[in-house]
Amino acid sequence: MSLPLNHKVALVTGGGAGIGQSIARKLAAMGATVVVTDMRLEAAEDTKSQLAAQSPAHGAKKLDVTDRAEVVRVFEEVAAEYGTIDILINNAGVSTMNTIENLTEKEWDFNFDVNIKGVFFCTQAVIPYMRKNGCGKIVNTASMAAKRAAPLLAHYTASKYAVLGFTQSAAIELAPLNITVNCVCPGFVKTSMQDRELEWEAGLRGMTTEAVKAEYITKLRWPGSARPTMWRRLWASSLHRKRISLPARRWTLPAERT
Ligand SMILES: NC(=O)c1ccc[n+]([C@@H]2O[C@H](COP(=O)([O-])OP(=O)(O)OC[C@H]3O[C@@H](n4cnc5c(N)ncnc54)[C@H](O)[C@@H]3O)[C@@H](O)[C@H]2O)c1
Repeated sequence: MSLPLNHKVALVTGGGAGIGQSIARKLAAMGATVVVTDMRLEAAEDTKSQLAAQSPAHGAKKLDVTDRAEVVRVFEEVAAEYGTIDILINNAGVSTMNTIENLTEKEWDFNFDVNIKGVFFCTQAVIPYMRKNGCGKIVNTASMAAKRAAPLLAHYTASKYAVLGFTQSAAIELAPLNITVNCVCPGFVKTSMQDRELEWEAGLRGMTTEAVKAEYITKLRWPGSARPTMWRRLWASSLHRKRISLPARRWTLPAERT
C-alpha cells in the first residue's frame, strides 16, 4: 500500500514517551521509517517495539539533545544506516515550576539547554543531509506557554518563546534550500510532564491537583486535557506544509518573494 511518507526517514527526539511517542506512531502509520531517539534508550526501544507491527525497519537510539557531540554522531549514524534524514521532529523538552524569586540558575539552564539549545543542535546537525536531498521538513514543539504565558513557568515560557523565534528565523533562512521549518504549540496534554507540573503547582500554591487543573482549563482557557494522540494530526499537517510558517512569511526577504 502506498502511504504519504513511504521512503522517508524521520528522526524524532524525546520519542520515548508522551507526545514524542505519539508522533512516532503517527509517522510510522504514514509510511515513514522512524528513528526514535530519547535520552533514555530503554524508552526509545519501547516506542520502537510499538512500531514494529508496521515495519521492522524502525530504529531506536540513545540521544541527549543537550550533548552536541552526541547529536552530531547519532545523526551521522542514522544517515549512514538509513541513507538520509528527511524529517526532523524536535520534540524533546522539559519543564520545572518555580516562582521567579526562588528560581535557580540550574533550573533556568536545564529548561533552556533542553528546550532551545537542543533544537539548535539538532537543526544544525540535520541541515547537511537535507541540503544534499534538496528538501527537508523540520517541526519543532514549542507550547501554548509561548503564546499565553502562565505564572510559575517564566523560565519554561521564555525557552518556548525562544523556540518560536528560532523557528521563524530558521524558516526564512532555510527556505532557499527547500527546507520547511514549522512549530506546533500544544496546550495541556496528558503526559508525564503534565502530571509533574500539576503536582509542582499544587505544592507551590497549596492547592489540590484537581483544583489546579480546573483553573488551567477555565481561567487560562487552555484546551482541556488532550491526549497525545489528539495532537498528532497537527504535527502531521505541519509535514504537509509546502511553505514556511505564516509568521515567518511576513518577513520573507525581498529576493525570495519573486
Ligand atoms: N504535555 C504538555 O502538556 C505539553 C504542553 C505543551 C508543550 N509540550 C512540549 O511537548 C514536548 C513533549 O512533552 P511531553 O509532555 O511528551 O513530555 P514527557 O516528559 O512525557 O516526555 C518527554 C520525553 O523527552 C525525553 N527527554 C527529556 N530530556 C531529554 C533530552 N535532554 N534529550 C533527549 N530526550 C529527552 C524524556 O526522556 C521523555 O521520554 C516537550 O517539548 C514539551 O515542552 C508539552
